[in-house]
Amino acid sequence: MLHSRFGDTGEIPNCTGARARPPQRTATDRGLALAEFVLPGMIALNGITKSYNGRPALRGISTAVDRGEFIYLTGPSGAGKSTFLRLLYRAELPDSGVIMVNGADLMMMRRREVAEFRRRLGVVFQDFKLLRRRTVGENVTFVLSLLNLPDREQQRRAYLVLKQMGLQHRMHAYPDELSGGEQQRVAIARALVLQPDLILADEPSGNLDPERSHELLELLKTINYQGTTVVVATHDRTLIEAHPARTLFLEHGRVVRDAWVTAP
Ligand SMILES: Nc1ncnc2c1ncn2[C@@H]1O[C@H](COP(=O)(O)OP(=O)(O)OP(=O)(O)O)[C@@H](O)[C@H]1O
Ligand SMILES: [Mg+2]
Repeated sequence: MLHSRFGDTGEIPNCTGARARPPQRTATDRGLALAEFVLPGMIALNGITKSYNGRPALRGISTAVDRGEFIYLTGPSGAGKSTFLRLLYRAELPDSGVIMVNGADLMMMRRREVAEFRRRLGVVFQDFKLLRRRTVGENVTFVLSLLNLPDREQQRRAYLVLKQMGLQHRMHAYPDELSGGEQQRVAIARALVLQPDLILADEPSGNLDPERSHELLELLKTINYQGTTVVVATHDRTLIEAHPARTLFLEHGRVVRDAWVTAP
């Protein structure tokens, strides 16, 4: 059965006009206000569809994720996991449906609000996407430079988050001088440094050996225990069974099962 906090119909209540708002408020402000008073969850999708060149990738997804949850998205190749994640960080928009993330209505969001919205998310990719010509420290401070913080403060924050990942001694190394697991931890440090509300990870263990994959999952679980909502897309069933959590199973663009997966 699909997990829904919106009653049997699975519909998101129409909150428009729930509170009178001053006209200068932006769509993001409105979304955040809704999050506080009406929609305490982190993610709410209702009837989301997405096609590429007329071929459906997502066919009517309705689900909700609470703040502080840890969930997996799993399913066969082509099931729609990455598409699902891309919609969540608004790399793309759905063709139809309602999508709320961290209090913002993504369809209503104006272009200039997208940067602010993304600043509250951390995204981790399978291939790390590190800047090869920049050091580990610079890969992290690069994100902080968006905040116009003094250099010293950027250095301090980068050091602290890399220390959390056990990589403070590699601040001056280049990504190519690190192992795959270390590079992935830099990617996570970069995702964490802005203290995001939500971490989205697409096959984060895809390039790691089993031992490093388990370490990575432990790390993501620890981040989750500290309060960050985490969504991990993975096709690795062994990993899910070793670190059980709520799991959405996607097949052909639909959620076919929503369950807590435990070891067989
Ligand atoms: N940019 C795109 N252009 C055209 N088709 C796309 C695009 N992105 C995804 N698709 C198609 O949408 C469907 C879902 O793809 P998606 O990448 O979301 O699957 P996935 O579950 O992440 O698969 P994998 O496990 O292989 O990463 C697939 O049929 C794919 O070919
Ligand atoms: Mg994918």
